[in-house]
Amino acid sequence: MPGLEYRCSELPAKQWPFAIMEPLDHRGTASQWLTDRGWNCRWIFWEGDFIHNAELWNDLQTLGLAEHNASNQSWLLFTPCPILETSIDLVETELRKLYREPLSCLDIGCGSGRDLAWLLARKTDANVPMWQAVAIDSSEGAVQRTRIICKNMAMANQLISGINAKVLVNGDWRLVEKGNPGLAVKDGQMERLMPGYPTLQFFTQEIQRLLNHNIPPQYDMIITIRFLVRSILPQLPQLLKPGGFLIISHFVDHEDYTYDQPRPEHRLQVNELANLYGSMPGISIIVDKLEHVEDGRPVNSFIIRKDRGV
Ligand SMILES: C[S@@+](CC[C@H](N)C(=O)[O-])C[C@H]1O[C@@H](n2cnc3c(N)ncnc32)[C@H](O)[C@@H]1O
Repeated sequence: MPGLEYRCSELPAKQWPFAIMEPLDHRGTASQWLTDRGWNCRWIFWEGDFIHNAELWNDLQTLGLAEHNASNQSWLLFTPCPILETSIDLVETELRKLYREPLSCLDIGCGSGRDLAWLLARKTDANVPMWQAVAIDSSEGAVQRTRIICKNMAMANQLISGINAKVLVNGDWRLVEKGNPGLAVKDGQMERLMPGYPTLQFFTQEIQRLLNHNIPPQYDMIITIRFLVRSILPQLPQLLKPGGFLIISHFVDHEDYTYDQPRPEHRLQVNELANLYGSMPGISIIVDKLEHVEDGRPVNSFIIRKDRGV
């Protein structure tokens, strides 16, 4: 199934039924591949005369069942993390009082880049892209998938950089280089090859120098979704511009819910974020709520704003 395996992150969630269309000479291939992997291809069409039946498409449009893709840009088949979807209008309205578009976003632990792709697809009323972004993940494959989804959606120029970097347990950051997992054996001892850098130094000096990119040192918005390295949480406001927003949504260890993954030590504690950021000067808590991911596990969705004068 050439190409499809690299584009799974563009598909709807597995519990959502969707329609696919297969070329006549490859009947059954894509649908079988998707069904074997748990997707719900409820309706399967084969390419044929009806594709060129203008009357059919007009009728479908009139009934609101089809839409003309005037811009020829890929449509998103998925929805983002709920807190991003429900809060983005407020975030954009507030940020646009202070800054011009494109607004800047940093996604830490970006995974396949779905939330970022959704964000980058947003436009102003004048049809100008609202956002540009830097995506960071310790997995090279994840960074690659983020680049691919942005390219497929004709938004590659809005992805300022996809950076393969790891947040270390102590809260420092280290670039992950190809063929350099960060450890090497020297004299029978495991030795670290690349040092980690404290948050501010990493963003203001190291990645600028090493990647020779114009990476912003501070962002209008930072998102970190289903990703937790606790030690960076107190540092993140340093990476926000005055008036900028930090959106965190991560699994929470809550007495009303029992689940296996992530393990309890990799979950937030109830009120952990509120206690941390609530006592931090120059920070306002905007949202603090319990939500659920598709399979029912609880997440703490949390938004803070850095004061404008900071
Ligand atoms: C559960 S996924 C979430 C991805 C995405 N934010 C989402 O919600 O779909 C967590 C991501 O964090 C990345 N990750 C895990 N530990 C990391 C670390 N120490 N530094 C950077 N990225 C890390 C993983 O490679 C993975 O892509």
